[in-house]
Amino acid sequence: MSSNTANQTLRTRYSAEVKDILKRYPDDQKRSAVMPLLFLSQKEGLQATVSVMSEIAQILDISITQVASIVGFYTLYYSHSGGKNRIQICTDLPCALRGADDFADKVCEKLGVKLGETTEDGEFTVESVMCLAACDKAPMFQVQNGDGITYHERQTISDVQAVIEQLGNAEIDKSPEGAE
Ligand code: FES
Repeated sequence: MSSNTANQTLRTRYSAEVKDILKRYPDDQKRSAVMPLLFLSQKEGLQATVSVMSEIAQILDISITQVASIVGFYTLYYSHSGGKNRIQICTDLPCALRGADDFADKVCEKLGVKLGETTEDGEFTVESVMCLAACDKAPMFQVQNGDGITYHERQTISDVQAVIEQLGNAEIDKSPEGAE
Protein backbone atom coordinates (compact mmCIF):
# COMPACT_ATOMS: atom_id res chain seq x y z
CA MET A 1 0.00 0.00 0.00
CA SER A 2 1.42 3.36 -0.95
CA SER A 3 1.64 5.99 1.77
CA ASN A 4 -0.80 8.04 -0.29
CA THR A 5 -3.36 5.24 -0.12
CA ALA A 6 -2.66 4.71 3.58
CA ASN A 7 -3.27 8.40 4.22
CA GLN A 8 -6.73 8.08 2.72
CA THR A 9 -7.79 5.01 4.72
CA LEU A 10 -10.08 6.69 7.21
CA ARG A 11 -11.83 8.94 4.70
CA THR A 12 -12.19 6.26 2.06
CA ARG A 13 -13.36 3.52 4.39
CA TYR A 14 -15.58 5.63 6.61
CA SER A 15 -16.47 8.61 4.48
CA ALA A 16 -20.05 8.95 5.78
CA GLU A 17 -19.05 8.42 9.42
CA VAL A 18 -16.28 11.04 9.18
CA LYS A 19 -18.74 13.56 7.76
CA ASP A 20 -21.28 12.78 10.50
CA ILE A 21 -18.67 13.27 13.22
CA LEU A 22 -17.46 16.58 11.76
CA LYS A 23 -21.04 17.86 11.55
CA ARG A 24 -21.31 17.71 15.33
CA TYR A 25 -18.75 20.49 15.83
CA PRO A 26 -18.65 24.14 14.75
CA ASP A 27 -15.88 24.90 12.24
CA ASP A 28 -13.83 26.78 14.82
CA GLN A 29 -14.02 23.83 17.25
CA LYS A 30 -13.59 20.91 14.90
CA ARG A 31 -10.43 19.86 16.72
CA SER A 32 -12.80 18.44 19.35
CA ALA A 33 -13.59 15.67 16.86
CA VAL A 34 -10.18 14.12 17.45
CA MET A 35 -11.43 11.53 19.94
CA PRO A 36 -14.43 10.25 17.96
CA LEU A 37 -12.26 10.10 14.84
CA LEU A 38 -9.64 8.08 16.71
CA PHE A 39 -12.34 5.76 18.01
CA LEU A 40 -13.62 5.36 14.45
CA SER A 41 -10.11 4.56 13.23
CA GLN A 42 -9.99 1.58 15.57
CA LYS A 43 -13.12 -0.02 14.17
CA GLU A 44 -12.68 -3.50 12.81
CA GLY A 45 -9.39 -4.09 14.53
CA LEU A 46 -7.55 -1.16 12.97
CA GLN A 47 -5.12 0.88 15.03
CA ALA A 48 -4.40 4.56 15.25
CA THR A 49 -1.26 4.14 13.17
CA VAL A 50 1.01 7.03 12.28
CA SER A 51 -0.69 7.33 8.89
CA VAL A 52 -4.14 7.39 10.52
CA MET A 53 -3.00 9.98 13.09
CA SER A 54 -1.54 12.02 10.26
CA GLU A 55 -4.83 11.85 8.36
CA ILE A 56 -6.82 12.93 11.43
CA ALA A 57 -4.39 15.82 11.94
CA GLN A 58 -4.98 16.88 8.32
CA ILE A 59 -8.76 16.63 8.63
CA LEU A 60 -8.81 18.71 11.81
CA ASP A 61 -5.99 21.06 10.87
CA ILE A 62 -3.97 20.25 13.98
CA SER A 63 -0.50 18.78 14.38
CA ILE A 64 0.13 15.05 14.42
CA THR A 65 1.82 15.60 17.80
CA GLN A 66 -1.48 16.76 19.24
CA VAL A 67 -3.20 13.62 17.95
CA ALA A 68 -0.37 11.38 19.15
CA SER A 69 -0.47 12.90 22.64
CA ILE A 70 -4.11 11.84 22.97
CA VAL A 71 -3.37 8.33 21.72
CA GLY A 72 -0.50 8.10 24.22
CA PHE A 73 -2.56 9.34 27.16
CA TYR A 74 -5.72 7.25 26.89
CA THR A 75 -5.71 3.46 27.19
CA LEU A 76 -8.68 3.27 24.83
CA TYR A 77 -6.47 4.32 21.94
CA TYR A 78 -3.50 2.38 20.64
CA SER A 79 -1.00 2.86 17.88
CA HIS A 80 0.33 -0.69 17.82
CA SER A 81 -1.28 -3.87 16.57
CA GLY A 82 -2.77 -6.34 18.99
CA GLY A 83 -5.11 -9.26 19.37
CA LYS A 84 -8.85 -9.38 18.88
CA ASN A 85 -9.23 -8.92 22.64
CA ARG A 86 -6.98 -6.58 24.59
CA ILE A 87 -6.78 -7.52 28.25
CA GLN A 88 -5.61 -4.32 29.93
CA ILE A 89 -4.57 -4.84 33.53
CA CYS A 90 -4.13 -1.81 35.75
CA THR A 91 -0.71 -1.99 37.40
CA ASP A 92 -0.65 1.60 38.61
CA LEU A 93 0.53 2.10 42.20
CA PRO A 94 -2.72 1.59 44.18
CA CYS A 95 -3.45 -1.60 42.22
CA ALA A 96 0.19 -2.70 42.46
CA LEU A 97 -0.10 -2.46 46.23
CA ARG A 98 -2.98 -4.93 45.99
CA GLY A 99 -1.00 -7.47 43.96
CA ALA A 100 -1.65 -6.31 40.38
CA ASP A 101 1.86 -7.13 39.13
CA ASP A 102 1.67 -10.70 40.37
CA PHE A 103 -1.82 -10.99 38.91
CA ALA A 104 -0.59 -9.69 35.52
CA ASP A 105 2.26 -12.23 35.56
CA LYS A 106 -0.20 -15.06 36.20
CA VAL A 107 -2.54 -13.91 33.41
CA CYS A 108 0.45 -13.84 31.05
CA GLU A 109 1.45 -17.33 32.19
CA LYS A 110 -2.05 -18.61 31.48
CA LEU A 111 -1.88 -17.32 27.91
CA GLY A 112 1.80 -18.13 27.34
CA VAL A 113 2.78 -14.53 26.56
CA LYS A 114 4.67 -11.67 28.15
CA LEU A 115 3.13 -8.29 28.89
CA GLY A 116 2.53 -6.45 25.62
CA GLU A 117 2.53 -9.66 23.58
CA THR A 118 -0.26 -11.32 21.61
CA THR A 119 -1.18 -15.00 21.63
CA GLU A 120 -0.19 -16.93 18.50
CA ASP A 121 -3.80 -17.28 17.39
CA GLY A 122 -4.23 -13.49 17.53
CA GLU A 123 -7.05 -13.72 20.07
CA PHE A 124 -5.51 -11.95 23.08
CA THR A 125 -3.02 -9.22 23.89
CA VAL A 126 -2.15 -8.62 27.54
CA GLU A 127 -1.20 -5.06 28.43
CA SER A 128 -0.31 -3.17 31.57
CA VAL A 129 -2.09 0.18 31.82
CA MET A 130 -2.37 3.11 34.19
CA CYS A 131 -5.28 3.88 36.50
CA LEU A 132 -8.70 2.75 35.27
CA ALA A 133 -10.58 4.41 38.14
CA ALA A 134 -11.29 1.28 40.15
CA CYS A 135 -8.37 1.62 42.56
CA ASP A 136 -10.08 -0.09 45.50
CA LYS A 137 -11.15 -3.06 43.41
CA ALA A 138 -7.81 -4.53 42.33
CA PRO A 139 -6.83 -6.78 40.78
CA MET A 140 -8.84 -5.36 37.92
CA PHE A 141 -8.67 -5.16 34.17
CA GLN A 142 -10.71 -4.08 31.19
CA VAL A 143 -11.18 -6.00 27.97
CA GLN A 144 -11.39 -4.06 24.71
CA ASN A 145 -12.67 -5.74 21.59
CA GLY A 146 -15.00 -5.14 18.67
CA ASP A 147 -18.01 -5.31 21.01
CA GLY A 148 -16.76 -2.49 23.22
CA ILE A 149 -15.21 -2.48 26.68
CA THR A 150 -15.99 -4.55 29.74
CA TYR A 151 -14.67 -3.97 33.27
CA HIS A 152 -13.65 -6.82 35.55
CA GLU A 153 -12.99 -5.98 39.18
CA ARG A 154 -11.72 -7.87 42.23
CA GLN A 155 -10.51 -10.63 39.96
CA THR A 156 -8.90 -13.97 40.73
CA ILE A 157 -7.00 -16.09 38.23
CA SER A 158 -10.05 -18.40 38.03
CA ASP A 159 -12.17 -15.39 37.11
CA VAL A 160 -9.85 -14.27 34.34
CA GLN A 161 -9.60 -17.83 33.07
CA ALA A 162 -13.40 -17.89 32.73
CA VAL A 163 -13.33 -14.56 30.86
CA ILE A 164 -10.65 -15.86 28.49
CA GLU A 165 -12.58 -19.06 27.81
CA GLN A 166 -15.74 -17.10 27.14
CA LEU A 167 -14.03 -14.72 24.73
CA GLY A 168 -11.79 -16.88 22.63
CA ASN A 169 -10.29 -20.20 21.80
CA ALA A 170 -6.81 -19.46 23.08
CA GLU A 171 -4.82 -22.40 24.36
CA ILE A 172 -4.61 -21.68 28.04
CA ASP A 173 -2.83 -23.30 30.92
CA LYS A 174 -5.70 -24.77 32.94
CA SER A 175 -3.57 -25.92 35.84
CA PRO A 176 -5.00 -24.83 39.19
CA GLU A 177 -1.76 -23.02 40.10
CA GLY A 178 -2.63 -19.49 41.10
CA ALA A 179 -6.34 -20.09 40.52
CA GLU A 180 -7.43 -18.92 43.91
S1 FES B 1 -4.68 2.45 40.29
FE1 FES B 1 -5.60 0.75 39.33
S2 FES B 1 -7.61 1.41 38.93
FE2 FES B 1 -6.67 3.12 39.85
